[in-house]
Amino acid sequence: MTEKRALFIIFGGSGDLAQRKLYPALYGLYYQGRLAKHFAVIGTARRPWTDDHYHDIIKQSLVGAPGSAHQKTEFAEHFYYQSHDVTDAAHYVTLRDLAEKLDKQYALDGNRVFYMAMAPRFFATIAEHVKSEQLLSAKGFNRLIVEKPFGRDFATAKQLNDDISQAFSEEQIYRIDHYLGKEMVQDIMPLRFANPLLGHAWSKDFIDNIQITLAEDIGVEERAGYYETAGALRDMVQNHIFQIIAMLTMEKPARYDAASIHAAKRAVLSAIKPYTPTQVHDKFVRGQYLGGDDIGLSYREEDNIASDSTVETYVAGRVDIDNDRWRGVPIYIRTGKRLKAKQSRIDIVFKPTSDNILPTVNDTHVAPNVLTLIIEPETGMHLTLNGKEIGTSDAVSPFTLDHALDQDELAKAPEAYQRLMLNILDGNKLTFTHWAELAASWHFIDAIRTVWDNDKADGLAFYNSGTMGPQQADDLLARDHRQWIWQGDTTK
Ligand SMILES: NC(=O)c1ccc[n+]([C@@H]2O[C@H](COP(=O)([O-])OP(=O)(O)OC[C@H]3O[C@@H](n4cnc5c(N)ncnc54)[C@H](OP(=O)(O)O)[C@@H]3O)[C@@H](O)[C@H]2O)c1
Repeated sequence: MTEKRALFIIFGGSGDLAQRKLYPALYGLYYQGRLAKHFAVIGTARRPWTDDHYHDIIKQSLVGAPGSAHQKTEFAEHFYYQSHDVTDAAHYVTLRDLAEKLDKQYALDGNRVFYMAMAPRFFATIAEHVKSEQLLSAKGFNRLIVEKPFGRDFATAKQLNDDISQAFSEEQIYRIDHYLGKEMVQDIMPLRFANPLLGHAWSKDFIDNIQITLAEDIGVEERAGYYETAGALRDMVQNHIFQIIAMLTMEKPARYDAASIHAAKRAVLSAIKPYTPTQVHDKFVRGQYLGGDDIGLSYREEDNIASDSTVETYVAGRVDIDNDRWRGVPIYIRTGKRLKAKQSRIDIVFKPTSDNILPTVNDTHVAPNVLTLIIEPETGMHLTLNGKEIGTSDAVSPFTLDHALDQDELAKAPEAYQRLMLNILDGNKLTFTHWAELAASWHFIDAIRTVWDNDKADGLAFYNSGTMGPQQADDLLARDHRQWIWQGDTTK
């Protein structure tokens, strides 16, 4: 295992993301020996912390992580804190001096990772100052990491992309979608391209429909301020769900490298045409959670939420891909808060046999084969097939092959952010999104958003907390003579 060399400059070093995800991720790489002597981290934010206090914060963020107290202390000593307002150009000069000093002290070969773990309104100004105050290193690599959300519509996303592109090339920009770092999302390619059994059946000839569910059981919690300006469509569909769609439906990339995969994803996403207002009404449903005794407050009663808010906490819809492989295969998507259970999953529903000669239980239809990928909180997959009922009956009945990823192996596997950090250090952009993918998904989302913003409360369906969302989401599939495979039972 080769040791990586880099200086990380984390803007928003005192924030929630940095403490909960980034520091444990870096520590995970340190614990594995991928980061050792030759790395340093500058955390910046406005509050006036000392380096010693920063080290305590780092160690607190590692509670529960493996390794000795001594190891954690040694790790924390690679961290330096800079009190800094990102809108003030003068501070970048101090930052540059510290960066140059640390580069020499730790022999970092001029490799720099600029991680923007801050509110998106600061992204452009950070990128601009990094360039104008000459923080870009002339020798090693310079990589800019951009957290979500990347814009709030196509226009703002493009503006942001244009702004950061003044200082960084597409090659140097790493747009985070942490779903791409999840184990089962990464398993989609091997499943599709290393198993001819599935690969040959991966088209409209064999697949009836695809269902993607990202369900949360919690409410808006402390994210009210952001959520009121976003809603479920922007928060979950534009990024995570569209990335999952792309991974599931892209053509086989020419090679296993980032450029080929991005090209394949871009091609399939551009075959998803934005809907007309009529299609939006027909194919998309939005909802907002209600509260009740023992269930919690309704969305409108939560802190910092407008009492007449029309922001959606639930979205379900049908996405159609206009290409030869997928024409006519609906991709049903849904995501929501305060649902019956927390689970992220994909159900691939195959076409049922059309010429059955075998007896079935109560003369019903033969069940379709379903391949289910459970992304979280468990990690694994199920394949539903048909066999003979045990005993004297000849009837066909479904059974399931279950594959739960080995818990011991899984415990050793890196968390999404650790994997992403490693990919950043390796210059591997496979698990990051290309601008063209974002542009395509924003065009689709904008068409829906425009209709919903005009309709305001009209068409907003309220649903009880602890259910699977509004009835309209079931109706959406019932109209196509289909139903959601997952009804909220976490054992399936
Ligand atoms: N938290 C998560 O789990 C999560 C998950 C996915 C994506 N994200 C994304 O990650 C980014 C950061 O989120 P977060 O939850 O970590 O936010 P946060 O807890 O509010 O942290 C914001 C950070 O920015 C600093 N800051 C604010 N204004 C500043 C200024 N003018 N100059 C310098 N520093 C300033 C804050 O420190 P001071 O107040 O000391 O300046 C703080 O360190 C956002 O884009 C978010 O959407 C977060």
